[in-house]
Amino acid sequence: MCGIVGYIGNSQAKDVVIKGLKRLEYRGYDSAGIALINGSLSIKKCKGKVSALEKLLSDSEKGSIAIGHTRWATHGEPNDVNSHPHVSSSGKIAVVHNGIIENYNALKLKLQEEGYKFYSETDTEIVAKLIESFIDKNPSIEFVKAVKLALAQINGTYGLAILNSDNPETIFVARKGSPLLIGVGEGEMLIASDASAVAEYTDKVVYLDDGELAIIKKDEYQVINADDVELTKEVHELAMSLEEIEKSGFPFFMLKEIFEQPKTISDSLRGRINVEDGSITLGGITSVMDKLVNAKRIIIAACGTSWHSALVGEYLIEWLAKTPVEVEYASEFRYKDPLIGEGDVLFVISQSGETADTLAALREAKEKGATVLGIVNVVGSTIARETDAGVYLHAGPEIGVASTKAFTGQVTVLALIALSLAQHKGAIDKKSSKKIISALSKIPSQVEEILKQSDQIKEISNLFTYAPNFLYLGRSYSFPVALEGALKLKEISYIHAEGYPAAEMKHGPIALIDDMMPVVVIASTKHTNDKMVSNVEEVKARKGRIIAITSPSNEEVRDLAEFSCMIPETEDVLSPLLSVIPLQLLSYYVAVNRGCDVDQPRNLAKSVTVE
Ligand code: M6R
Repeated sequence: MCGIVGYIGNSQAKDVVIKGLKRLEYRGYDSAGIALINGSLSIKKCKGKVSALEKLLSDSEKGSIAIGHTRWATHGEPNDVNSHPHVSSSGKIAVVHNGIIENYNALKLKLQEEGYKFYSETDTEIVAKLIESFIDKNPSIEFVKAVKLALAQINGTYGLAILNSDNPETIFVARKGSPLLIGVGEGEMLIASDASAVAEYTDKVVYLDDGELAIIKKDEYQVINADDVELTKEVHELAMSLEEIEKSGFPFFMLKEIFEQPKTISDSLRGRINVEDGSITLGGITSVMDKLVNAKRIIIAACGTSWHSALVGEYLIEWLAKTPVEVEYASEFRYKDPLIGEGDVLFVISQSGETADTLAALREAKEKGATVLGIVNVVGSTIARETDAGVYLHAGPEIGVASTKAFTGQVTVLALIALSLAQHKGAIDKKSSKKIISALSKIPSQVEEILKQSDQIKEISNLFTYAPNFLYLGRSYSFPVALEGALKLKEISYIHAEGYPAAEMKHGPIALIDDMMPVVVIASTKHTNDKMVSNVEEVKARKGRIIAITSPSNEEVRDLAEFSCMIPETEDVLSPLLSVIPLQLLSYYVAVNRGCDVDQPRNLAKSVTVE
C-alpha cells in the first residue's frame, strides 16, 4: 500500500527520497510524488511508476529536505491530481499520507464554506488545508501547534509527513494506525513507512507509536505524545542487510525468495530445536506457556497466505498438542462480536506485522482480556509490538507481493509451537517428538532437492500458461496447501484458480472438469493416500489434466497423473513445507510466461494497511 519516505541532511534529498520510493515499490502503488524545499516548496507528482516521477525532476530541483510518496488509491482514481503530495492554498504546506481520513467529507465542506478550494478527490488534501486554516486564523501560531489542532479534528488512520516552507529545516510526522519510523543518521535523518527505505543509510531506527508526533531536524528529533509530553524513545538496531532487499541476480524478488527457503527455514529453526534430546526452545513464548497449556481452545486470526498457514497450524496443534483450534479471517473476527476473554489465547499471524484487519482482531481480543500472541516476520512491526509475546520467523525481508518464504517460515514456527505445547502438556511421547524434530531438521535440504526440479516445473507451466482456470485439490494437511497454490496463481498470473478439499470436489466443482481443466493434486500425506487415489480417478474419468505433487509413498497417484513432481518423504504433519514449493514455482513460471509483473501484481499491495 502507500509508502512514505523523507530525508533531511547534507545529501541531495531528492536522490535519497527517489531511491527510498523505489525500495517501497514492492508494497504496491499506482502513482508517486515528491515535495522539496529549496527556498520555496516544489512539488512533482504523477500517475505511474517512480521512474516516471524521476523523469519529471530536473537538476535544478536541489535541496536538503524532501518528502515522497507512493500512492495506492483509496479515495479517487489513480491520476496525477490525486497523487500525493497535496498542498495548502498558499503553496507553503505539503502533505503525504498513508491511511484513510474517515471524516474528510465533513471537514472538506467546512473548509469549502470558509473559502478553501479543493482540486483532488482525495481525503488527504484536507490535511494541508486544515493546517493552513489554523494559521490563517492565527498567523502567529507555531506551525506544530497548527498541526496538532488539525490532527485533533481528524478521525481515521494516518501516517503523515508534512513540509512547510516557513520551517525549511524540519520534517513533521504523525502516526495513528499507519506505520512510521525515523532513521537516525549522522547529521541526517530519514523517515519512512517501512525500514527497507532507510536501511541503506542507517541501522538505527525509532518506531513511532499511535498518537505520536515527531519534529525532525537533521541533527535531532523530538517525539511528543497526544498529551504533549516529550518522550524518550528507544533506538532499535535494524538487522537488515542491503543484499536482503536486492534481487541479487534473480529476475524477480519472488524467485529469489522461493530459492531462499532452505536458508530461511533453517533460520527459523536455528537455536530452537535439539535433535539429540528432542527439546524445543522458544524464548518468545516461555512466559506464556502456562496460559497456552491451560487454554481450553486456541484461536488463530490472519489474512491471505497467513490465514492458510493458520489452517496448517490448526491441524498441527490439534494433532500434536490436542488443544482445539479455531481459525478466523482477521477481517471477519471483530464483526461477529467474538466470544473471547480471559483464559483464551489468540495467535495472530502476519508477515508484515502491519495488516490492518489482523491488528484490529488483535486489539479486539486484547480488550476482551485474552492473551494475544504473534507469529510475525517483520521485527519491530506494530503487531509484534502490541502482542503479549510471540515468535519471529527470521525469514528476512519479503519483498515479492506474493508471499512464499513467509508461508514456510510460519508453518515452521507453528510446528515448533505445536510440538512445544504438546511436550508441555504431555500430549506426545518422547520418541514421536524426537522423530518429528529430526524430520524438521531435514526440511531445508529436502526443499533444496525440490528446487532442483524447477526446470521440470517450468516445462509443465509452459503447457498450461493460457489455461483460463485451475483447480487445486488436497486433503488434510494438503488442503491449506491447495488453497495457497490457488492463491499464488491467481494473484500473480490473474488466472482464476480454486483450492478445494479433494472430496468436496464431488459436491460441485466436478462439473467444471473437462479436458481443458488443469487439476493440481497435492497427494503427499500417507494417511490420506488411498482416498486421494479415488479422487484422482474421478478427475481422470472426466479427462481432467492431472498435475500431481506426490511423494514416493503415493506412487499410485503419480501413475495416474499426466504430469508429476516428486517431493521427498517426510512426516505427514510437515508435508506442507515441501508440497507448497512446486506450487510456488508453477505459479511463478506461468506468470512469467504470461508477461505479468510478478513482484508487483495489479491492484495488490504487499501489506494491506487499510481495512
Ligand atoms: O503481512 P500479512 O501476512 O499480514 O499479509 C496478509 C495477506 O495480505 C498476504 O498474505 C497476501 O494474501 C499475500 N499477497 C499472499 O501472497
